[in-house]
Amino acid sequence: MSFTDTAMDFRTPELDALASVVIPEQHFELRAEDARDSYFTDTSKLDAKQLVHDRFRTNPRALHDHLIGALDLRGTEELLDLGCGNGEILARIRPYLAAGHLTAFDIAPAALEAARQRLDGVATPCEFVEGTADDLSVFANDSFDRVMAVYMAHYVTDLDACFTEVRRVLRPGGRFVLATDRTDSMVEMWNVHFAALRDMNAPEMLFRATPKGRISLSNGTGQLTPYFASVERVDWQDQLQFGKADAFMAFYRSCNHCCASSKPGVDLSPAFFTDLEERVHARVQAAIDKVGYFALTKYTGHFICS
Ligand SMILES: C[S@@+](CC[C@H](N)C(=O)[O-])C[C@H]1O[C@@H](n2cnc3c(N)ncnc32)[C@H](O)[C@@H]1O
Repeated sequence: MSFTDTAMDFRTPELDALASVVIPEQHFELRAEDARDSYFTDTSKLDAKQLVHDRFRTNPRALHDHLIGALDLRGTEELLDLGCGNGEILARIRPYLAAGHLTAFDIAPAALEAARQRLDGVATPCEFVEGTADDLSVFANDSFDRVMAVYMAHYVTDLDACFTEVRRVLRPGGRFVLATDRTDSMVEMWNVHFAALRDMNAPEMLFRATPKGRISLSNGTGQLTPYFASVERVDWQDQLQFGKADAFMAFYRSCNHCCASSKPGVDLSPAFFTDLEERVHARVQAAIDKVGYFALTKYTGHFICS
């Protein structure tokens, strides 16, 4: 494992201890179709999340900086972006591929439309393809020099099919970059969330962690190794620091209340979420009153596969 930003180490024994008691083993199951039909009918939540990262991060190197390094681009490559979302990352990477070719791929029509608008008018050729990442049959063998999947693999129903397909469409010598988090990323958010749920005697079903438990930085190496000769794990960290509780609450909402509002298997009323938000807000405000900000520590990174 390599650690690129050694200066940015926010881990403390206290945070590790918190993660060991707060992060549950069980995680939410969220099918790609459910995510498309509930979470990605428009890109407002994704837009909000990206804005929060831009405004509140403390690592000067953003996600796209790390990805640009991982992709190791010459400027002429053909790149496939699986689960391109609103095209924010593609637009950031595009100047490094000015003489290349971009294919934006997503299961959600609303995401593809947002990506199309964001890249509208750029001279670099761009294609927009709707589909699911476990079936890339629209692409011929050896079509791409680079494939990336950024914070999307946990939605893919059949990861074995997905990695087989990525291997097939990737040219010899090409690279697949899969970005994801560790399961204990943002433990501070899970802590205030679960504490509020406990105060409310919320249904047991809600005491689960993010669907990223399916594939994460923590368990991805074993899942990728059967398909790629080389799998390198790169870890890096960031810390979002919120000086106002309302700023954090916008992020918490964009995370679907830690998945509690994204088809968890129980029906929850609007009043439930009002109560939950008030309790979370109070805990976040208490942290701000004590130390000046509420911190969310991100343990994130990517796999470079070839
Ligand atoms: C959290 S967003 C990430 C978007 C973008 N990669 C980024 O990092 O900004 C996940 C995206 O993956 C898409 N997605 C989910 N499951 C998918 C699948 N099976 N195949 C293709 N796209 C999928 C969603 O529609 C959504 O746009």
